[in-house]
Amino acid sequence: MPHASCGLVHHLVPDLSTTLSLSNAAGFDFIVVPLSHPRYRLPPPGHEASATGAPICRSYAFTRSDMLLKSTDWSSLVVGSLPRDLQMESMSTGVRRESEERLQRELNYAAHLGLSAILVELKRPENTNLARALYSFILKSSGSGPQVWVRAPIIAPKAECTPEERGDSTSSWDWWNNLRTSANFAKKLGLVLELDSQLVSTITDEIVLKRWLGEPIKAIVLNTSSFLTNKKGYPVLPKALQTIVRQFIPSDVQVLIEGRNRGHDMSLYQSYMDHLWQQTDSGDPLRQFAKGYEDFLQSPLQPLMDNLESGTYEVFEQDPVKYTEYQRAMFEAIKDKIPEDEKATKTITLMVLGAGRGPLVRAALKAALAAERKIRVFAVEKNPNAIVTLLTQKEEDWGDQVEVVSSDMRQWHPEEHDKADIIVSELLGSFGDNELSPECLYNAQHLFKSNAVSIPTSYTSWVGPLQSSKLYNEVRGTMDVDKISGSNFETPYVVHLQNKTELAPPQPLFTFVHPLHGNIDNNRYEIKSFDITMDAVLHGFGGYFECVLYKDVMISINPPTHSKGMFSWFPIFFPLRTPVRLTKGQTLDLNFWRFNNGKHVWYEWCITKPVAQPVLNPNGRSYTIGL
Ligand SMILES: C[S@@+](CC[C@H](N)C(=O)[O-])C[C@H]1O[C@@H](n2cnc3c(N)ncnc32)[C@H](O)[C@@H]1O
Repeated sequence: MPHASCGLVHHLVPDLSTTLSLSNAAGFDFIVVPLSHPRYRLPPPGHEASATGAPICRSYAFTRSDMLLKSTDWSSLVVGSLPRDLQMESMSTGVRRESEERLQRELNYAAHLGLSAILVELKRPENTNLARALYSFILKSSGSGPQVWVRAPIIAPKAECTPEERGDSTSSWDWWNNLRTSANFAKKLGLVLELDSQLVSTITDEIVLKRWLGEPIKAIVLNTSSFLTNKKGYPVLPKALQTIVRQFIPSDVQVLIEGRNRGHDMSLYQSYMDHLWQQTDSGDPLRQFAKGYEDFLQSPLQPLMDNLESGTYEVFEQDPVKYTEYQRAMFEAIKDKIPEDEKATKTITLMVLGAGRGPLVRAALKAALAAERKIRVFAVEKNPNAIVTLLTQKEEDWGDQVEVVSSDMRQWHPEEHDKADIIVSELLGSFGDNELSPECLYNAQHLFKSNAVSIPTSYTSWVGPLQSSKLYNEVRGTMDVDKISGSNFETPYVVHLQNKTELAPPQPLFTFVHPLHGNIDNNRYEIKSFDITMDAVLHGFGGYFECVLYKDVMISINPPTHSKGMFSWFPIFFPLRTPVRLTKGQTLDLNFWRFNNGKHVWYEWCITKPVAQPVLNPNGRSYTIGL
């Protein structure tokens, strides 16, 4: 059963152990507590020493002892919150120093306790000194230190800062963006988003919400005052807030519940969140299948150069949509090739090129049966291991109706009378042509009769700009020591995109049509212009495909037309080396090339507006696809 991981926020904690056990008993997974006593202060600047010059001796510590809990409990059950009154940006040196020292001392103590995260609040647009201090702490504590969760309201509350402080920026996203940019997009920096229902009700532009979805959100904060009481007496979120919360669930966020109990047992807030999680999780096969793969970078498959493994075929074959759509397309094409009045006399030849372990052969036989037409099938496959599976099925099920051909489709030359009326293939990658379907099928056109049809008839790659600091950080963390420095930014990745914001709708890029009569040239160059509708940061481009199988039968992983429930393909991500700050109203120009030098195919890409950047992957120096 899906479970919402919930933390309970406490602002005053007289007895930590009791607070922890009561919160756990109410179903909360962890608590958020101040690291130090709110009234504890360092001596004012200039008073660090006593009148005699000796250091001041205190008889009490600035916070509770680490002996109160076992270290495993500190690390798994407690998030420490930093003081809310820090004045890190104060122009008064004394005030600023005092805040810096308090911050440093608490960060060090959090590291000492082994906390997994500490929480710091953003209250104003300018946070550069805070960013510097946090970044410096993250670098010093390297892998072992706590994550830094930065808490920000979803929209800047008007009362929180003066107009001078706020400047032009009424957007709390800018506060956060400035801070994490100064902290060099550090991976340890996460976001905790406050979804106060009053604030949410002032959001009129859906972009405000969309932009947060591309941020590394660790948790959302819900105040008990945002809940209503339903007819049965249970606390529930108003519809508008529910809709917003649901959008964060796929990103695996945690929930922080804050505020008074308002006459309810606190456990009811937690169980309500579980209920929301369970409702959102069920039903979508793609989500079920993709669990655990969210934002996980994978190298694109190269089924032409490499032989796919049994497990990979097995995963394809579980797709609930792809084969039914192919079968529908074949059904239509077979009926078009054999009119009703010839169905008793005419037999046509259908070739499955790249048959794998045979799912499309099985779909072809079913389509012919349903159409009450006669077909002969050639199953052509170059992977000798898959040929074993195909031959076994021929022997056990298919008999003479199917011929298995162990060959590369480009090299097989059948007799004239064996040429195909219908060619069926599935050689598509996440970007359509990136598993070299064009190179295979155009070099296998000698297998087609002059009036043959191809399933697919055409496919088009689509590309759209993305903001995702999560993916940027994942790519940054992927270094291949055997390749040139920076090659990780010149390589596309197959990835189930989750923690991202689409900055403009994707656009069509390269189209390939089969069969092609006339000159064949698989090189391509396109420039795509995107209108930017929000202030944002560009981290790269999502790649997708749309494919016309036959007439109106299509499959697609392009977000607006995605075939529901189809999970054979995740999108592909083309990164940028340097994130680009974009402003609402700007035009973003993307240049994209596809090259084929007879041995390899590769892509190159760069942006030229609003700023020009160097071309990535020139000459295919970091990434190629083998022919
Ligand atoms: C993406 S898999 C699809 C397999 C199967 N049709 C399915 O839908 O599960 C592509 C298959 O085409 C085969 N293949 C790729 N290029 C080929 C070529 N030039 N000649 C023959 N087979 C090829 C690969 O070995 C692989 O089995």
